[in-house]
Amino acid sequence: MTLKWWQKAVFYQIYPRSFADGNGDGIGDFKGITAKLDYLKDLGVDALWLSPHFPSPNWDCGYDISDYCAVAPEYGTLDDFKTFLAEAHKRDLKVILDLVLNHTSDEHPWFLESKSSRDNPKADWYMWMDSPRPLGEGPGGEGVPPNNWQSCFDGDAWTYVPERGQYYYHFFMKQQPDLNWRNPEVKAAMWAAARFWLDLGVDGYRLDAIGTIYEDPNFTPHSVPMTLAEIRHASETAQTAAEKRKAGKLWFDMFKYQLGGPGLHDLMKELRAILDEYDGDRMLVGEDDDPAYMGNGDDELQLVFNFPLMRTEAPLTPRWIRQNQKERLAALAAISPKAWPCNTFGNHDSPRVYTRYGDGVHDAERARLALATVLTLKGTPFLYNGEEIGMTDYMIADPAKLRDTMATWYYESMVNQLKVDPAEAARRAAIMTRDKNRTPMHWSNQSNGGFCPSTVTPWLPVNPNYAEGINVKDQQDNINSLLSFYKRLIRIRKATPALVEGDYLPLDERSNDYYAFLRTIAPSAAPLQASGSAQGGQTVLVVLNFSQQRPVLKLDTKLPFQTARLLFSSSGRSRNEESLKEIHLGAFEILIAELQ
Ligand code: GLC
Repeated sequence: MTLKWWQKAVFYQIYPRSFADGNGDGIGDFKGITAKLDYLKDLGVDALWLSPHFPSPNWDCGYDISDYCAVAPEYGTLDDFKTFLAEAHKRDLKVILDLVLNHTSDEHPWFLESKSSRDNPKADWYMWMDSPRPLGEGPGGEGVPPNNWQSCFDGDAWTYVPERGQYYYHFFMKQQPDLNWRNPEVKAAMWAAARFWLDLGVDGYRLDAIGTIYEDPNFTPHSVPMTLAEIRHASETAQTAAEKRKAGKLWFDMFKYQLGGPGLHDLMKELRAILDEYDGDRMLVGEDDDPAYMGNGDDELQLVFNFPLMRTEAPLTPRWIRQNQKERLAALAAISPKAWPCNTFGNHDSPRVYTRYGDGVHDAERARLALATVLTLKGTPFLYNGEEIGMTDYMIADPAKLRDTMATWYYESMVNQLKVDPAEAARRAAIMTRDKNRTPMHWSNQSNGGFCPSTVTPWLPVNPNYAEGINVKDQQDNINSLLSFYKRLIRIRKATPALVEGDYLPLDERSNDYYAFLRTIAPSAAPLQASGSAQGGQTVLVVLNFSQQRPVLKLDTKLPFQTARLLFSSSGRSRNEESLKEIHLGAFEILIAELQ
């Protein structure tokens, strides 16, 4: 099988604001990132995804873009970007950018023009609607919003603009007006922006929030008798599984008319056709749950994140992963044999892997198991910066220090609308905010974790646990560190064809202690370049023991092999071969072996 680069690659997400500060102003930048390319190469990753680096007023940390064809001044210049890209490519590192299609910033010139009157050339570039009641009514004389839709970030989804005497729609913050994608001029302008970076040589895009691009064309009101503040309150305070399910159902019912409206498949096809005009297999990965956006497997997105995999609380269990794989791989197979999986456990919107899947006792073991899972399952893995050194969530206790304005809105709405005690609201805001997983990267045990000079205040507080060994410098020469483990496992994946392209076959499906499966390349399949063993096919056994139990595996009757030649064991085995008659697993052992 000839795989494309994005099928073989291990991706690494860089959050530019927090990754590396090259000019010492407390904000990450391109000079900083470029200086860390050797680090990334040594880590073993093959491709970088950059969260938005465009000019932005930062109401949503860069996801509110005011110019799609430039670099935010705090990150450097376009030349700095070009240098970064050239240096990355020199090291064989691919680079994909974030493409935010649904909305722009309200400071984007397109919106400024659009909101200025009802008859300007861009009047129809955003989602404008009249009040269904005469203007002059309502508290400020502005009528009433067109319907009861909510923004998922800050209350009403409609904001009134006096210049037009109309409302505009925003699924996210009011500073993020939704574009009108049914207007061909909008498409042309956004495709031109996409081409701008493709022309410069970027290797593809991660597509932001694609499910929000089209809404129900009838603007059907939802029927949940709650405001955003109330529904957030319900979901942040849900304790039992039943309460969580109920809150989830309320969310779904509240937003169902605002997501997944008709038209997205055609739009994705158009964008894919643009990428296909370029050489070098440029690629798209979609931020959505639904693999249907891979089209027929060859005409829409190359990848769609398997988000359902990460949506579980600690501990991660074999049963959960197995069930996820069963459903996901079946869904992909139904699309096309070419539809390729894409697994991840962390990104800039979700809690840190180390915290989320830890149990407070065996966090280190569980973080390693999470990595081993994404690197050995079938599909392209995405890692998030900082997870390789075990960065943890950092709770920002003072709401005034939050930079994630969605959380600021949450705090204020709890205190002002729902009369929640401010201390309790602050505690909850610290948990629900995404700031906790976006704090600056720890490069050393020097002040500010080596991210920026001690005299400078970084844009978000640095987690003080950089001083406890959670930093690159302390870990890079320690063979027992998490960082060394990442490097080693990534290298094993790359050197083992079956782990990259092999079929997935679960074993011992009833165990909830360990997760065992095979990755197999049939003998007739063409070999990959690496270890040579694929010539006659290759079968690799992966056993991930998620428990303290020490079960004994007896695989000889199930498999046409006798021995397992160890490629990796986290339990320090003395032999490098085990008989399949009996493998005694260690607690939390990660075992990867080629079967013979
Ligand atoms: C995506 C981004 C998130 C952002 C949102 C709105 O979900 O990952 O960070 O807030 O889109 O652009």
